[in-house]
Amino acid sequence: MPDLKTTYMGIPLRSPIVVGASSVSGMLDRIKMAEQAGAGGLVIRSLFEEQIQFDALRMEESLAVGSESTPEARSYFPAIKHGDADEHLMWVEKARKAVSFPLFASLNAVSRGAWTKYARQLEDTGVNGLELNVYVVAADARRSGTAIEVELFDVVEAVRQEVKIPLAVKISPFYTSVAYIAAELDKRGASSLVLFNRFLQPDIDPATESLTTDMVLSGPEELKLPLRWTALLFGRIKAEIALSTGVHSGLDAAKALLAGATVVQTASAVIKNGLPYVSTMLRQLEEWMTEKGYTSLADFRGKLSQKQAADPFAFERAQYVRLLLSQK
Ligand SMILES: Cc1cc2nc3c(=O)[nH]c(=O)nc-3n(C[C@H](O)[C@H](O)[C@H](O)COP(=O)(O)O)c2cc1C
Repeated sequence: MPDLKTTYMGIPLRSPIVVGASSVSGMLDRIKMAEQAGAGGLVIRSLFEEQIQFDALRMEESLAVGSESTPEARSYFPAIKHGDADEHLMWVEKARKAVSFPLFASLNAVSRGAWTKYARQLEDTGVNGLELNVYVVAADARRSGTAIEVELFDVVEAVRQEVKIPLAVKISPFYTSVAYIAAELDKRGASSLVLFNRFLQPDIDPATESLTTDMVLSGPEELKLPLRWTALLFGRIKAEIALSTGVHSGLDAAKALLAGATVVQTASAVIKNGLPYVSTMLRQLEEWMTEKGYTSLADFRGKLSQKQAADPFAFERAQYVRLLLSQK
């Protein structure tokens, strides 16, 4: 039986399949199912800036003279009460106590103060590591790419100084130089890079002339982008790589490991198939390893990274002349 154990950011995991940040971490029974199915760990959905801002708003409200004196004032925010930052922190703490496999918290803040404050509070819940979900849509035409990148580096540095637990940074693929971003985050103490986040893209319904923002799950065809970057970065940075996006089977996990990932994260596949599907993925990975004669993940991790592949230029080429010319 092949050994699927690994360490990720210094934390021992029983398998390299981690359940990525998503709605499945909103229920304890699902978190327990992930553990039972053999997942190496689970990332709890992010604490978002909107929840943090709600806390600030509530604080202002409570400081306003007389605001708490009437039942109307107390019920001013009934709906959001179930989504604020304090509630999230309590949830993470509760989840941490309910299971024994590694749990990672995730944070998406905006101001530097909020990043550091909530990073520390998430660390205090007892989670094993923290993932920074740093992506924002850069839609402000007055802010340059450099300014955005400098802010990212500052945030990661500030959080790194604030917390002691291992730190992962989950980035988007939409940087001019992903390699530069990766190297800079590495220098600033990121223990892992999560490649990549995937975002809600609003669509337009021409019939009703309205916007639709349905959550569309990923497909395995989306694996190629993080696969390429994992292969390009493996062995070139100290930080480990958690490949995220498009991992839908044990063979997808095998591809990610061949490219150089330490672990994979999977969200869409478990939302679609249920948490027990993690055990199916693990079985597929084991079967593949047995067929290839591998006894541990170290036997083949990074074998097809750019550093080790027989054709190192394959990952860099954007276009293949031979393939393009052969198309009729
Ligand atoms: C319903 C849903 C909720 C998600 N929530 C979060 C979140 O809170 N924080 C985060 O960093 N990513 C979140 N994601 C993104 C996933 O963690 C993951 O990066 C993305 O879905 C790509 O992986 P996949 O192809 O395995 O789905 C969410 C994804 C889905 C589908």
